[in-house]
Amino acid sequence: SSMHAELEKLLDTTTGNEREVSRKDFEGFKNLFHRFLQVKGPSVEWIKIQRPPEDSIQPYDKIAARGLPDNVADCLNKLVVVKLNGGLGTSMGCKGPKSLISVRNENTFLDLTVQQIETEFSVFNHKKKSSSFSLLFQARRHLNKTYNTDVPLVLMNSFNTDEDTKKILQKYTHHRVKIHTFNQSRYPRINKESLLPVSTNLSMNSQNSEGWYPPGHGDIYASFYNSGLLEQLIAQGKEYIFVSNIDNLGATVDLHILHHLVSQPNGKRCEFIMEVTDKTRADVKGGTLIQYEGKLRLLEIAQVPKAHVDEFKSVSKFKIFNTNNLWISLAAIKRLQEQKAMDLEIIVNAKTLDGGLNVIQLETAVGAAIKCFDNALGINVPRSRFLPVKTTSDLLLVMSNLYSLEAGSLTMSPKREFPTTPHVKLGSSFTKVQEYITRFESIPDMLELDHLTVSGDVTFGKNVSLKGTVIIIANHGDRIDIPAGSMLENKIVSGNLRI
Ligand code: UTP
Repeated sequence: SSMHAELEKLLDTTTGNEREVSRKDFEGFKNLFHRFLQVKGPSVEWIKIQRPPEDSIQPYDKIAARGLPDNVADCLNKLVVVKLNGGLGTSMGCKGPKSLISVRNENTFLDLTVQQIETEFSVFNHKKKSSSFSLLFQARRHLNKTYNTDVPLVLMNSFNTDEDTKKILQKYTHHRVKIHTFNQSRYPRINKESLLPVSTNLSMNSQNSEGWYPPGHGDIYASFYNSGLLEQLIAQGKEYIFVSNIDNLGATVDLHILHHLVSQPNGKRCEFIMEVTDKTRADVKGGTLIQYEGKLRLLEIAQVPKAHVDEFKSVSKFKIFNTNNLWISLAAIKRLQEQKAMDLEIIVNAKTLDGGLNVIQLETAVGAAIKCFDNALGINVPRSRFLPVKTTSDLLLVMSNLYSLEAGSLTMSPKREFPTTPHVKLGSSFTKVQEYITRFESIPDMLELDHLTVSGDVTFGKNVSLKGTVIIIANHGDRIDIPAGSMLENKIVSGNLRI
């Protein structure tokens, strides 16, 4: 009740629309906070965890083997693509939305997303009609006019990303993708000791902005519903959303998975598909699927008791992890929201603010909702559908000749002998995109690279080629410039030892 009083005080610091929006946000927050207070002990009992039944995680090849239906356009007509766009580019040293960072040939994450959605239609026409160019073109125009099959794009923005994103959206007005946005909630960070909001004001001025946060992507269900957009899309005949992280460049619309979804018989309607992929030793922290109390459930590392963390990370016991590419029924979201049946596990994220104050923020994850839906399914997809760009090391890979770019999609070069990506570890002088860019005159040839570690003040000249295992370490106070045209194969370059 002291929380309630504090929230009322906060509401009194503003009027009009802002007050109304905040009031809605606070309803959601109170609910989450209340559940947080009630939580006793871990959200899973380790001994109750079971391996998911055989048919609850299907191999992608089995799904794809059924081929595509004649009515791909009908399937696409039921689909909406949603990208999670609440996050900032802070971890890569950028101000503003992460989706506006350039990743390849001056294209941002958002540019690539828009291009990907536009070209789904050429895939369709190519398969269905004819490969002749004029026919293809005609069919394409025809399709748009007659069937109006454009798949819309929905962006879930946060108060951190909404303004900048909307400004940029104007550049797509002539693209053939209808773009909608809605805002996720804004919740108050709370003092770790007193558990009361740290902010005294609803305004987002510089003293106050640290008091607020977007409560994780699990917020999508409530905010999508509250925005009215969910209802609007259902009224247009849309049935499913394909949700993914905007920084996952591998998350394209997959027609086989879509077909699988829409072709399930009534009564066995699949309301939720989670794309998972085989875990490697690099992905040990990703959430995994388990069977729990008779349902598929997402198990995140944050929920694992300390004594079992090593077991959780094991690649042999928990073989797959969540890519966060999800296919979800709109009608089911609506039903679960109206029944208030989405009790997603709470992730308590502890932070220290600039001034040194310890706070917590309560979050939820979108994939955690799998347990609420009927006939939920995992599909084990190829690794290529999980191509996240979290760091400049990831960025180096996707900017290189390891990939080629076509219609917004990156595919691994056929010239690479093994389809695995190299392990790249760039040091702290490369963390910020701005600085990283200045350190490469051109992106090195990496087709035959297995492992690259770079540390300290290092720059790369034009047309450098890296093969096998390459380690470059400039000691403190030293600088290493890799000369233009050099070829480094299984080399260690350090302080005074030259190539
Ligand atoms: P993150 O980059 O924050 O998460 O967000 P992660 O490191 O992949 O790990 P998980 O999935 O959180 O465990 C992933 C996507 O979710 C969006 C980001 O913009 C990004 O596209 N996101 C995150 C939101 O839209 N809202 C949020 O509150 C948090």
